[in-house]
Amino acid sequence: MERITVTGERGHYEVRIGFDLLQALPELVRSVDGEMRIAAISNTTVAPLWGRRAAASLGAVGIYELPDGERFKRWPQVEAICRWLLSLGWQRRDTVMAVGGGVTTDLAGFAAAVYLRGIRWIAVPTTLLAMIDASVGGKTGINLDAGKNLIGAFWAPSLVVADVNTLETLPPRELRAGLAEAVKTAWIGDHEMLDLMPRGPFARADALQWERMIARAVRVKARVVGEDERERGLRRVLNLGHTLGHALETATGYRRFLHGEAVAWGIRAAALLALERGLMTDEAWRRLARALDAAGPLPPLDDLDPDSLVELVARDKKADAGGVAWVLPTTDGVIPDQRVSIEELHRVIFRLQHASMDRGPDGTMSRL
Ligand code: NAD
Ligand code: GLY
Repeated sequence: MERITVTGERGHYEVRIGFDLLQALPELVRSVDGEMRIAAISNTTVAPLWGRRAAASLGAVGIYELPDGERFKRWPQVEAICRWLLSLGWQRRDTVMAVGGGVTTDLAGFAAAVYLRGIRWIAVPTTLLAMIDASVGGKTGINLDAGKNLIGAFWAPSLVVADVNTLETLPPRELRAGLAEAVKTAWIGDHEMLDLMPRGPFARADALQWERMIARAVRVKARVVGEDERERGLRRVLNLGHTLGHALETATGYRRFLHGEAVAWGIRAAALLALERGLMTDEAWRRLARALDAAGPLPPLDDLDPDSLVELVARDKKADAGGVAWVLPTTDGVIPDQRVSIEELHRVIFRLQHASMDRGPDGTMSRL
């Protein structure tokens, strides 16, 4: 089992990564507080697979099963969770445990942040993305019509338990999207991690390799948020690939790309810009492109209107006369606050849309 300490503004917490950790939950939780009363929150997909098992192993008083989907990461679910906690007689010293992907950990973490002005919560992430990103760093929140994560709180969990065996049931496409995010994290802070990346699908026999890779990614994120939990500066580097990524998600109504897939296209765009500017050597660029290829094929973007994409990027990131601020990869890492002009953006989208690509049998494309 790997053990990583994260420093937040409200104190330290541990991330435990390993296999068969759901069975070890009672012991892990006791190390935080021997007297904990737990109410579990999961969703209708994860609860029958893992959530009910986790709740039972801890003797949780009950489990709240959210409807599954990003579209439910909204106010009504927060209120429903709070009403449920109230019906259980939940008090300030009691604890909530979130078992699921980033939607569940963001929602349950936010409910924990606002219920009685803040109660303790534990994250049990069950997607690769939630293990390496969403459950670490203290961001919790919900969406509004106007955009994602517009309401939220910095409210770090008291413990994160990532049982890699839960990845066994994760749909392969979700796993690949998580791998793309892992490539992002590796480029930010641990290039050697790229050589240790497992190839999906997840197999129990490779659990140790997954455990090590996830731990390396969490160490990178822990370093960043340990210095800048509230995203006043350094934490912005975690947005590598997000500038174009958000525009792709919005342009397709969040229906075509999983978040990690949109970010993978965004990283490719950022890498092309970096190459043009001489920020990356050809060799580094090829290494990054190969790692993204290995994560898996992406849904296509060649039919999207470039003008709309450019406008979405400019609107989302509030372009000024100097252009839009991007995080760009360099040969050794990343560099934030790089101004990219509208003309450059048009050029890079053209290159992405017209580069020679292999189209897979299912219509997805993989290569730059
Ligand atoms: P998700 O929570 O929607 O999970 C993806 C799908 O996999 C869902 O259908 C879910 O029910 C299912 N699932 C989860 N675990 C499973 C398992 N073990 N077996 C089978 N199915 C399983 O999506 P996600 O990619 O985990 O998270 C995306 C969310 O995370 C977004 O809302 C994003 O804003 C948020 N996020 C937050 C942070 C943060 O710092 N707080 C960082 C990154 C992303
Ligand atoms: N996923 C970006 C962040 O945690 O800041």
